[in-house]
Amino acid sequence: MACAMAGKTEGSKTSQAEGGQAKQKLITIQIMGKPHDVPADATIMGAIEYAGHQIIRGAGCREGYCGACATIYRLPGDHKIQTGLACMTMVEEGMSLAQVPYVPAEKAIYDIEKLKPNVSAIQEMYPSVFRCVACNTCTKSCPQGLQVMDYVQAAKRGDIAMVMDLSFDCVVCGMCMLRCPAEITQPLVGILAKRLYGRYLRKDSPELAERVKAVEEGAYDTEYAELMSMSREALSKRYYARDTE
Ligand code: FES
Repeated sequence: MACAMAGKTEGSKTSQAEGGQAKQKLITIQIMGKPHDVPADATIMGAIEYAGHQIIRGAGCREGYCGACATIYRLPGDHKIQTGLACMTMVEEGMSLAQVPYVPAEKAIYDIEKLKPNVSAIQEMYPSVFRCVACNTCTKSCPQGLQVMDYVQAAKRGDIAMVMDLSFDCVVCGMCMLRCPAEITQPLVGILAKRLYGRYLRKDSPELAERVKAVEEGAYDTEYAELMSMSREALSKRYYARDTE
């Protein structure tokens, strides 16, 4: 979950990179109500750090995966509160922003073995779902571009597979919960659906079983040993050069 930056170290307004290199284009933004000149091509996270703040919480992966850096902001002349991940959202002239430290939410405690993969689990664990007024605010506030309202509607119908599918890329940043007028805890509903799906609905995968068997039989031991012996730098290079879908 997210948290804000803490402890400003020292001001660092400048328009010229160190070492006499080319000038950077700066723009002025408001960070927690105070104006700062920051590089025009910075992410919000980069701008916060450029301004001299140390982010001690509210940053994790720095690549849009962990959801730790939820941020709200407004742009000049726009009444709307915008939401974004600080590590992925670029600054804009006149932007006024604050990081969201944490969005409280009551997590239901359940024994997955005692639930059924249908609407009864939703009714029992997250009845707030049925307060949804279909305003779509959750979808509009999702920095991942997920169809949040659609999966809330699917939860109301007990369509667990659809909830799992539509919420799959949720990073639990909490922005939908924060903006929801019905005070639904959407990410937690998504997590419940994923667990129900995994426990009851997923099809067996012969490919996975085969791969697990190969791992257990030591088919990858040499490669693991090689990875474990690599430096962080070499590991990082290998990681980013990997084949991805
Ligand atoms: S730091 Fe992980 S999503 Fe931004």
